[in-house]
Amino acid sequence: MSRHAASPAQSLPGAVSGTCQGRVSAGDDAGGMTNTAIAVSGLRKAYGDKVVLDGIDLDVPAGTVFSLLGPNGAGKTTTVNILTTLIRPDGGTARVAGHDIAAGTKAVRSAIGVTGQFAAVDELLTGRENLRLIADLKRLGPGKGGRVVTQLLERFDLAESADKLVSAYSGGMRRKLDLAMTLVGNSRIIFLDEPTTGLDPRSRRTMWDMIRHLVAGGVTMFLTTQYLDEADQLASQIAVLDQGRIVAHGTPAELKRQVPGSHVRLQFTTVRELDAAARVVPGSTRNAEDLTLRVPGDGGIQSLRALLARLDEYSINPEDLSVHTPDLDDVFLALTGHPNTEEAAR
Ligand SMILES: Nc1ncnc2c1ncn2[C@@H]1O[C@H](COP(=O)(O)OP(=O)(O)OP(=O)(O)O)[C@@H](O)[C@H]1O
Ligand SMILES: [Mg+2]
Repeated sequence: MSRHAASPAQSLPGAVSGTCQGRVSAGDDAGGMTNTAIAVSGLRKAYGDKVVLDGIDLDVPAGTVFSLLGPNGAGKTTTVNILTTLIRPDGGTARVAGHDIAAGTKAVRSAIGVTGQFAAVDELLTGRENLRLIADLKRLGPGKGGRVVTQLLERFDLAESADKLVSAYSGGMRRKLDLAMTLVGNSRIIFLDEPTTGLDPRSRRTMWDMIRHLVAGGVTMFLTTQYLDEADQLASQIAVLDQGRIVAHGTPAELKRQVPGSHVRLQFTTVRELDAAARVVPGSTRNAEDLTLRVPGDGGIQSLRALLARLDEYSINPEDLSVHTPDLDDVFLALTGHPNTEEAAR
């Protein structure tokens, strides 16, 4: 259980209202877990007449990174809060580690770890004391607790600052400590709500490495982010959330392919070859100045194979070939009709 949810006297969701996006819990096993770590169907949530989640369906296979991508106010934290049992949905169902979030709340909490959007570390304690607190709450005992804490401090590059008060930590150090605290429990499913917002590029990369390391060990990550490159780098599946609805869902490559603009660019050395290629490749656009041919397509392997076969058939040999796919920023714009910015979400 988390430091917020650990005391038997506390009851959720009231217990976490003061820390609203804080950690939930981190158990030692994910009993009852199947190949699907998280399954969500028709999830709905409204505050008054404001619909925040308007029927969300998700499936997260165990041992993968799933990224929920969306601008400010899209409903990312609300989704995380529901799946981690901090708040109740108005409708729909969700199973986490094989347990229903409503009927099996306790089992869900013991199977997961959560790092909330805002670092939930105690400023008046040192980094080591924060970690010890969690280890004690989890009853790891002095020997094992001490070992786990030391290992985590080293792994997160915090050993040197371990005995300084957290109030003297930088934002990035707090974020790392926060994640380290989530990992004390060795959870198999971890929710990270915007784990790298506000981190410098180096700390972001450290965090990414950490996430990859955990997933390589079989951990399932549910990651929210506003950073398109982050989802692209880490996630095997991405869902794009916009105004409470999933507007797109797929692998990073699949999402990129849904956006117009994918094309193959062929470079030739002579106009004769360029013209020959332009004649046999339907829909292509030739540029005689730089001797290139632009071939629109879906950016996929199959269409690339077909294109190369067609060129082969006519014994045309381009000097160079490059495949251009739009980045996730383009995807967001194309799918939601507005860019991924706070202003646009209003
Ligand atoms: N307790 C609440 N009462 C009323 N409205 C709320 C409450 N919590 C969230 N909302 C509203 O729900 C919507 C979604 O909020 P949420 O925090 O889930 O967005 P988010 O995608 O996490 O955004 P961000 O990227 O800014 O963290 C917002 O419009 C927000 O104002
Ligand atoms: Mg949020």
